[in-house]
Amino acid sequence: MDLNRTFAQAVTHQNEGRWAEAEALYRRIDKARPGMAAVTWNLGVVLKAQEKWEPALATFERTAKADPSFRGVNFNIGLCLQKLGRMADATTAFEKSVEVEPDDAVGRFNLASAYRDQNKVEVALEQVTSALALKPDFVEAQLLQSKLRTQMLPLWHVPMVNDAPRNDAYEAAIKAQVRPGDLVLEIGTGSGLLAMMAAQAGAQVVTCEAVPWIAETARAVIAANGLSDRITVVNTLSTALQVGDVLPRRADVLLSEIVASDFLSERIIPAVADARARLLVPDARILPARGGVRCALAGGDVLEKHLFTGPTSGFDLSAFNHLYPRSVRYDARLVQPVALSAPVDPFSFDFTGEPIPGSEHVRFTLPAGTDGRCVALAQWVWLDFGGGVTFENSPFIDSPASGWQPGFYLPDRPLTVTRGQVLAFDALHDGYNVWLSFRP
Ligand SMILES: C[S@@+](CC[C@H](N)C(=O)[O-])C[C@H]1O[C@@H](n2cnc3c(N)ncnc32)[C@H](O)[C@@H]1O
Repeated sequence: MDLNRTFAQAVTHQNEGRWAEAEALYRRIDKARPGMAAVTWNLGVVLKAQEKWEPALATFERTAKADPSFRGVNFNIGLCLQKLGRMADATTAFEKSVEVEPDDAVGRFNLASAYRDQNKVEVALEQVTSALALKPDFVEAQLLQSKLRTQMLPLWHVPMVNDAPRNDAYEAAIKAQVRPGDLVLEIGTGSGLLAMMAAQAGAQVVTCEAVPWIAETARAVIAANGLSDRITVVNTLSTALQVGDVLPRRADVLLSEIVASDFLSERIIPAVADARARLLVPDARILPARGGVRCALAGGDVLEKHLFTGPTSGFDLSAFNHLYPRSVRYDARLVQPVALSAPVDPFSFDFTGEPIPGSEHVRFTLPAGTDGRCVALAQWVWLDFGGGVTFENSPFIDSPASGWQPGFYLPDRPLTVTRGQVLAFDALHDGYNVWLSFRP
């Protein structure tokens, strides 16, 4: 057999997509002269084209054995392993591919995809960002990067820092209560905004941030604002901070905005309790000092259209309503709720006082303040910083941007209420979650 001629014929078949003929010729050459990387590579490619994953894998592995730096081989080993469902092994092969060929954008993209499949979001983002640095118009990588960023950075971060009334309340409280020379501990720095306000008030600030890439970016924001000498950002959960390390002593002020839309689910209660016990002076100023869950009866045509269905296009769809969750969150500007009662606070938390109970169950009533159709109990949050500085994100007040979304807790069906009619509710929290329900 003339090896060169046979190889040329096989390549022609391969280029024309005649995979079986190409495979047969490569196999003949491989049998006659085993282990030539150029042959096993091409054989692997035609096996891959026929989706023969097991033999393709074995063939690429032989190529890698003959020439470990053969361009593309680790990448193809990874692809075959992926097709065979061996995800961890595929990731190892993609890692090797990136190590051998760091300038290969596609290799980095595939490694990023493999990491993402295993929920390793941070390293996936690193790889896809490197892929885009190599090839900025790599649209598949742009899509993956955007999905990963969405997964990593909750979308409320930007409207939250653009929430001027929220920022103003914090700034007013900081100006009133933070003094030059204070040591301020912040829990959860995000963009670094509140830490910078405290530094501007003359304090030395130690701020922690649980999410590594947010901590890193906060450092950059703080440096860009010329405040790096006044603020230390530590990438850690507050509960892992120790006095004597980056925090030189117990802090004079605790600053935090780890207030979730339901107030509790960002775990403010245990975080503040832990900081008070270990990281603050006994009479530390705590900002916010108090806060809680506020609610009111809500109606409105637009809100109802988001919560209940009924007569539609001549049909009655109301039987569909029981599928809908009894608690949803919407941007208030989208659903335009209308208040049907005065507000009430089922839960209030004092961060300066006695330990807050780990769970509470209360019952309360609300009289309708007006006739109307009640479609939800609307819920929002309030904060009290002391010294008369307060804030609430009522869904009934128009606000250009907010990171918080009010909750809407639903009755079984819309209720026609008359002014003065009293409705009864259960309210429960377990320290992390809040549940509100209409009592029958
Ligand atoms: C709602 S954001 C507030 C960010 C910033 N302080 C502001 O008000 O603009 C809360 C941030 O705190 C972080 N975080 C929440 N609990 C934390 C904790 N116990 N320790 C460290 N970081 C925390 C979150 O990852 C998030 O980035």
